[in-house]
Amino acid sequence: MSNEHERPDKQANTTLDRRKFLAGTLGAMAAAPLLGMSGIVRAQSATPAKTTGSKQASHRRLGPLQVSPIGLGCMAMAPGFYNPAPERAAMVRLIRDAHAMGVTFFDTAEVYGPFISEEIVGEALTLIRNEVMLASKFGFNYKGSSVTGRNSQPAHIKTRVDGMLKRLRTDRIDLLYLHRMDPKVPIADIAGAVGDLISAGKVRAFGVSEVNPETLRGAHAVTPVAAVQSEYSLLERLPEVAMLDTCAELGIGFVPWGPTMRGLLADGFNAYSRFAAQDRRASVPFLAPEALETNMKIVALAREWAQRKDATPVQIALAWLLAQRDFIVPIPGTTKWPHLRENLGAVDVRFTAGELAEFRNALTALSVVGNRPASKAQENE
Ligand SMILES: NC(=O)c1ccc[n+]([C@@H]2O[C@H](COP(=O)([O-])OP(=O)(O)OC[C@H]3O[C@@H](n4cnc5c(N)ncnc54)[C@H](OP(=O)(O)O)[C@@H]3O)[C@@H](O)[C@H]2O)c1
Repeated sequence: MSNEHERPDKQANTTLDRRKFLAGTLGAMAAAPLLGMSGIVRAQSATPAKTTGSKQASHRRLGPLQVSPIGLGCMAMAPGFYNPAPERAAMVRLIRDAHAMGVTFFDTAEVYGPFISEEIVGEALTLIRNEVMLASKFGFNYKGSSVTGRNSQPAHIKTRVDGMLKRLRTDRIDLLYLHRMDPKVPIADIAGAVGDLISAGKVRAFGVSEVNPETLRGAHAVTPVAAVQSEYSLLERLPEVAMLDTCAELGIGFVPWGPTMRGLLADGFNAYSRFAAQDRRASVPFLAPEALETNMKIVALAREWAQRKDATPVQIALAWLLAQRDFIVPIPGTTKWPHLRENLGAVDVRFTAGELAEFRNALTALSVVGNRPASKAQENE
């Protein structure tokens, strides 16, 4: 039986027939024009499969950092998220394979595991540390391996970062995010603490996650923010209310998490799909049984466009995000090599301006159940 974590050279040739062409999309990237510097405007079909392991052809900017257009989310490489705990050595290999395929942006956080995702990322990147951008996040208190609440007191941040550097086996974190706002600490104090870490050379750039535009402005006024990270997908479009415009105005990058709708776009999901109780998605409102029937219409839209553009639904979702703004860098999370390859192939799926308008019209005509209401746009999560 084949192991889904493994590379295809170790799998039966019968796997992935439908997505065979995706490897070729990576080959095509080498010749592709710079992606997204003015949005994606050139229609282009993916080409047949030939090779794997080609480099992604372009980059995007998050403040001072230059990164691949699609990064890799490493959260669920730690146990306790979406899947049964993956084998650690396989995740180390997956991260290294992602780099070999051109990914230069890796996302983790202290709280993933906790600590385990950072350890895996640190081990995987040791030999290629200078070729990649590494992002992690602070913001919590721990007792042993239990999370006991939020804490972004300046002294606490500085202590936590020392532990993060050890786990990540590095002397600097390229992008250090505030993971969740601590209501007890003014944002200026948090930004000031990260500014001190930047001055000390332990951090290169500051990021914030799931904050509102006002908090973003407060942070940016003290220490320039390179990137905002929030959930953004075909289904969860709250950043469009105010955040993307704020990022554009301030010259800040945007990193969508949950870009594949937390896996809902995968083959096989339907309105009757249910998540196991231990899977975090069992408590996500837009994946609840009462929401799925309505929300599967968005999946159907992505499937329709996938047929039309010779891509997969996940690729349509990721390419659509890339096409929204040139400062967007999605970080789909995966623990499987075929999914990684599929996700990276999204950079080769292009929309014309007319297609984007058509897609938007179809999308806005669909109702969504369980996503965040527009009124939440001014709230910190
Ligand atoms: N800032 C924050 O608060 C925050 C919150 C959550 C996550 N994040 C970050 O964002 C990253 C991504 O977010 P996410 O993991 O929640 O959402 P996601 O990337 O939308 O979804 C991940 C899920 O989709 C599946 N998947 C990925 N690619 C697939 C493909 N091509 N075909 C089928 N299934 C696919 C994965 O399963 P397989 O493993 O089986 O591929 C996993 O179950 C995380 O890894 C983490 O680094 C940040």
